[in-house]
Amino acid sequence: MRTDAGTPALLEVRGLQVRYGGVTAVDGIDLNLPLGSVVALIGSNGAGKTSVMNAIMNLKTGCAGTRRFDGEDIASLRTDQIVERGVALVPEGRRLFPHMTVRENLAMGAYLREDHTGIQRDMDRVLDIFPALTAKLKQPAMSLSGGQQQMVAIGRALMSSPRLLLLDEPTIGLAPAVVQLIGDTIQLINREGVDVLLVEQNASVALSLSSYAYVIDRGLVVMHGSSTDLKKDRRVHAAYLGL
Ligand SMILES: Nc1ncnc2c1ncn2[C@@H]1O[C@H](COP(=O)(O)OP(=O)(O)OP(=O)(O)O)[C@@H](O)[C@H]1O
Ligand SMILES: [Mg+2]
Repeated sequence: MRTDAGTPALLEVRGLQVRYGGVTAVDGIDLNLPLGSVVALIGSNGAGKTSVMNAIMNLKTGCAGTRRFDGEDIASLRTDQIVERGVALVPEGRRLFPHMTVRENLAMGAYLREDHTGIQRDMDRVLDIFPALTAKLKQPAMSLSGGQQQMVAIGRALMSSPRLLLLDEPTIGLAPAVVQLIGDTIQLINREGVDVLLVEQNASVALSLSSYAYVIDRGLVVMHGSSTDLKKDRRVHAAYLGL
């Protein structure tokens, strides 16, 4: 599968549906993530963003629709098999192990791997990306600031050596300087060859980091286009940029 621009799609989602009992949270969403890109998914509370991410990881049963990663159908794979293929989720709310140390939390991201040299190399790389964590490695994760906990959550996902990172609201609740740092990190990670699907309520951050974006509302894609175009769109401004 190739995207409109002719770049092969690393992730391709078609007709995705997610239901919770009688409630349809995602009602037939299509999206493409071209190889090498950061793609954003924006939308307000309850739009269905987290449901899309969890469905890609197969964290929820009973989802319908096609999900292909690097050309392979991943819809019927278990979550750990999807991680092995190269997809990692940084979940909403970080979901760290609060009483475990920072080092242990990071190591958990590599639990499916046995290449000890590679694991050590990726641990060094995470600490290069987030030098603030070096002095915190022996501390329990819950003793860190919100921004540092988000760094641990991203670092843990990187420890599985992913090709695609799914980031669910990484900047929520963080101070502007930390939002900037997380944004810079997303760009750095992408330049180093990890593609990113970025979920954000903060449309301004999402559109400045991504090349393409989907706006979802009540389980449907209501707009999509290049992030540059969406930034200029009056409807996006009115609904999501608070202007
Ligand atoms: N476990 C669940 N059981 C029942 N309904 C759910 C469940 N999780 C989500 N929903 C519903 O599905 C819809 C989409 O929720 P989802 O969490 O995917 O939205 P979201 O865009 O991530 O929202 P937010 O910005 O608040 O994180 C909402 O109506 C929500 O109430
Ligand atoms: Mg959510």
